[in-house]
Amino acid sequence: MDYEHILTELRGDGPLKTALITLNRPKQLNALNDGLMNDLGHALLAFDADPAIGCIVVTGSEKAFAAGADIAAMAKYTFEDTYGGNFITRNWETIRQVRKPVIAAVAGFALGGGCELAMMCDFIIAAETAKFGQPEIKIGIMPGAGGTQRLPRAVGKSKAMDMILTARMMDAAEAERAGLVSRVVPADKLIDEALGAAAVICSYGMPSVMMAKECVNRAFEGSLSDGVSYERRLFHAMFATEDQKEGMDAFLSKRAPVFKHR
Ligand code: CAA
Repeated sequence: MDYEHILTELRGDGPLKTALITLNRPKQLNALNDGLMNDLGHALLAFDADPAIGCIVVTGSEKAFAAGADIAAMAKYTFEDTYGGNFITRNWETIRQVRKPVIAAVAGFALGGGCELAMMCDFIIAAETAKFGQPEIKIGIMPGAGGTQRLPRAVGKSKAMDMILTARMMDAAEAERAGLVSRVVPADKLIDEALGAAAVICSYGMPSVMMAKECVNRAFEGSLSDGVSYERRLFHAMFATEDQKEGMDAFLSKRAPVFKHR
């Protein structure tokens, strides 16, 4: 099937294939808008349901896995739009329904929702060029796609607080040291490495693969749902603040924000 915002292809020689999904809004550094998240969710569910597919790899461009939720779309949002429209939950979390393994292959920027999307995958393979960050605070909001919950679980409280409160980025080497990514490879080997890992997974029995994934997620998630629900409500509330309007307007106007702290 053809999609507007993603590319899909099947790879592999064995009986089970790997579905490769490439986020494809290069001019916007793969900023995650509704159209892209709808396409991604549809493709993920279709591949998950296809008995010929054993693993899914999600990747972006050389410059950006994804630079976050689409600020141009969000800048106009009100609290009613986010809370009433169930922003994020409505189409970002389809990936959590996927029972087959999903590997994120990350080169370049994985920021905000891009970092959060990578963390929603089962594991992350990074190119040496990868940069991870949760810079939402710079535009007057905070992470809203699970970042406040998954990042501390992945890298510990101190580093997560540092990244979320200062908006500093982590390079691939630091991300590997911190346990955010499972492997780091040269950029020109990224897709081959991810497809190689996927091919190994495809060679195993699917019930054991799927049950193992389910069990690791059970260990990882614990009370994650409560944490994400709580985060979502506060994220929605931010669209009632003047600082959200100012932060996003400043980004789009390419100027420094002047926050009023209310
Ligand atoms: N949303 C919309 N457009 C974006 C975008 C985003 N998140 N990130 C980049 N773009 C656009 C830019 O506006 C620019 O468009 P134009 O060419 O039309 O001006 C284009 O992509 C290229 O970006 P830059 O010129 O800024 O490229 P750069 O190399 O100088 O900088 C960058 C790259 C550091 C990633 C910078 O683009 C940036 O800081 N982006 C925003 C990152 C961010 O704040 N992400 C968090 C978003 S909020 C969020 O994700 C909420 C949540 O938790 C769900």
